[in-house]
Amino acid sequence: MHIDLYEKFWMWGAGAIIVVFLGTIGVATVSQGRLPPSHVETIDPTTVRADARFAAPGVTTNDDGSVEVTVIAMLFAFQPNEIRVPSNTPVTFRLTSTDVVHGFQIVGTNGNTMIIPGYVSQFTTSFEPGEYLITCNEYCGLGHHMMAATLIVEEGA
Ligand code: CUA
Repeated sequence: MHIDLYEKFWMWGAGAIIVVFLGTIGVATVSQGRLPPSHVETIDPTTVRADARFAAPGVTTNDDGSVEVTVIAMLFAFQPNEIRVPSNTPVTFRLTSTDVVHGFQIVGTNGNTMIIPGYVSQFTTSFEPGEYLITCNEYCGLGHHMMAATLIVEEGA
């Protein structure tokens, strides 16, 4: 088969770009330990409620004023369904699932993670005052579109 010289240039060029991109990921993973940031611990998805880390889902305030929110995702709800946190304060979310993969997206903010059964997802961010919709953004079944919660950010200290 005849391939035109310029066609070959483009083919090899495109191939080289792919190699560079994948190589960058490989180097970052191996040499700098870059991993998906949010899946920090493992957990038995069948005993989430008996696990001390998720025995009381909800909001707790640490001694230094930072806030921790534990959330359990399940078909088709988040527990708790309403979350209240202070504004301009670091809020650490810790989330897990009792069944299938769910999403946790706080619409209009940079708060967004996948929730995978067997893992604890964690991220920290802070918010401006307001009311935010939390949606599941991973298709999880027939009730996926109803899986939502509310984040209320109150004027903080
Ligand atoms: Cu949970 Cu979609």
